[in-house]
Amino acid sequence: MSTNQEKCIDLQQRKAVAMAGGGEKAIAKQKESGKLTARERIDSILDAGSFQELDLFIKHSARDFGMEKKDLAGDGVVAGIGTVNGRPICIYAQDFTVTGGSLGYMHAMKICKVMDHAVQMQMPLIGINDSGGARIQEGVRALAGYGEIFYRNTQASGVIPQISVILGPCAGGAVYSPALTDFVFVVDQVSKMFITGPEVIKSVLGEEISQEDLGGARTHAEITGNAHFFAESEKECFAQIKELLSYIPRNNSEKAEAHAPKAPQKTYDIEHIVPDNVRKPYDVRHIIRTISDDSQFLEVQEMFAPNIVVGFGRMDGQTVGFVANQPLRMAGVLDVDSSDKCARFIRYCDAFNIPLVTFVDLPGYLPGIDQEHAGVIRHGAKILYAYSEATVPKITVILRKAYGGGYIAMCSNHLHADFVYAWPTAEIAVMGAAGAANIVFRKEIKESENPEETRKEKVAEYSEKFANPYVAASYGYVDAVIEPKETRDAVINALKVSQNKKVATPCKKHGLPPF
Ligand code: HXC
Repeated sequence: MSTNQEKCIDLQQRKAVAMAGGGEKAIAKQKESGKLTARERIDSILDAGSFQELDLFIKHSARDFGMEKKDLAGDGVVAGIGTVNGRPICIYAQDFTVTGGSLGYMHAMKICKVMDHAVQMQMPLIGINDSGGARIQEGVRALAGYGEIFYRNTQASGVIPQISVILGPCAGGAVYSPALTDFVFVVDQVSKMFITGPEVIKSVLGEEISQEDLGGARTHAEITGNAHFFAESEKECFAQIKELLSYIPRNNSEKAEAHAPKAPQKTYDIEHIVPDNVRKPYDVRHIIRTISDDSQFLEVQEMFAPNIVVGFGRMDGQTVGFVANQPLRMAGVLDVDSSDKCARFIRYCDAFNIPLVTFVDLPGYLPGIDQEHAGVIRHGAKILYAYSEATVPKITVILRKAYGGGYIAMCSNHLHADFVYAWPTAEIAVMGAAGAANIVFRKEIKESENPEETRKEKVAEYSEKFANPYVAASYGYVDAVIEPKETRDAVINALKVSQNKKVATPCKKHGLPPF
């Protein structure tokens, strides 16, 4: 055997050791807890055979507590480049079988290298988290590693898509990298995300709480809003990631890839979704599906703040971001959480050249002391800021109620929507007719011989005057009143003509959004 052949065999042996992770026992434990290994996860996301691993032979730099004697395979993280549906991507996956996937400095440097590649080569980054957090034995070196990652997450924000997948514990400071990224994916019973674990909470606060309640997948998908996509299994999660990637561009200087246009399916009848009775709810997602290509709609944060619906679809083959009040939940009112959800999605679309299509049907912002004290002014202002700041094409369709601040906030003409359409059922007013009549004509109603009759007359008078789209149209605030069946064509035409939209923005370092 030649020396060169011997060296190749030596390489193969070294590779086999480094790729063995934490060994058979640790891998068996990983499987018992219903989780795939880091390498299996990467292989499940990337196109077959496309993974090119980097830094397999990295050595950790811990020198205390006996760590110097330990040889941690790959330092507990697998990193590299590959493709998804033929498009290049950077990826890393923490390996829980190696010291609990804990993050030491060299582990962090491996992650930073693929992050730098992703930014310089303008491609998306996927980070799979499965880790006990900062490697306790490394002390401040581990914290330094996290700091380097957070810095890069921030620099990369709005430049390349950053996707975080939580497939195990994501404890302590580790949670802040996902929180700085664009989309967080969680899996039921697998994902656990918290700053301080149950044991610390018990010792400090004396409270018993399960990991699941504290920071399980459902908690983050429904309550905190930290998660954007919830899956029942890792397999479903990987399919969701691939679907999302098909809708978004590789970086902020490109547009999302165009697909062959497809007509909507004939499942819904757009003429009959909005009920005649303005008090009756309906599912606004049916309207989205009546106009989107092939009736496809990838909803983002489906389980959080369901009074607003946001997500991706295609119109005539091009990706659009849909934003819609959801009359099915709390009449589609805007509150603290729905404002946050909506504003963030608008900013994502704006950063990545995705036109916005907004459907309006809401009674306004939610009143009450809880909301006022929770900061509905500050949070609600985020929507105004996000829509006003956005320079991508902005198309608005007013379906039914557009009252008060809600009318202005939901991408009105006044926040420089490019095209505002209204259905004949639209009611654009300061508030609903009943409330308005009670305030404006209170004295007249009270002093009349038949107050109930007078109230009805006044409500009817106010309705006739304002509960329609024509007053707004007479001022040019609505560009066209259209029938529901004309909506898809109107939106597609608006998108076509606004393809090369250019907006001059004032020179500034950055604005100060109310966050
Ligand atoms: C070093 C760690 C570790 C860590 C786990 N391990 N977390 N080693 N540093 N942070 C090791 C364990 O010692 C064990 O090693 C192996 O990983 C598997 O861990 P287990 O505890 O056996 O697994 P499990 O029962 O599944 O519990 C997982 C866990 C738990 C819930 C994540 O390990 C845990 O609570 N870890 C600490 C979490 C935490 O508080 N992290 C915060 C660190 S501070 P052996 O050799 O026995 O197999 C932080 C601040 C950063 O992150 C701030 C940045 C801003």
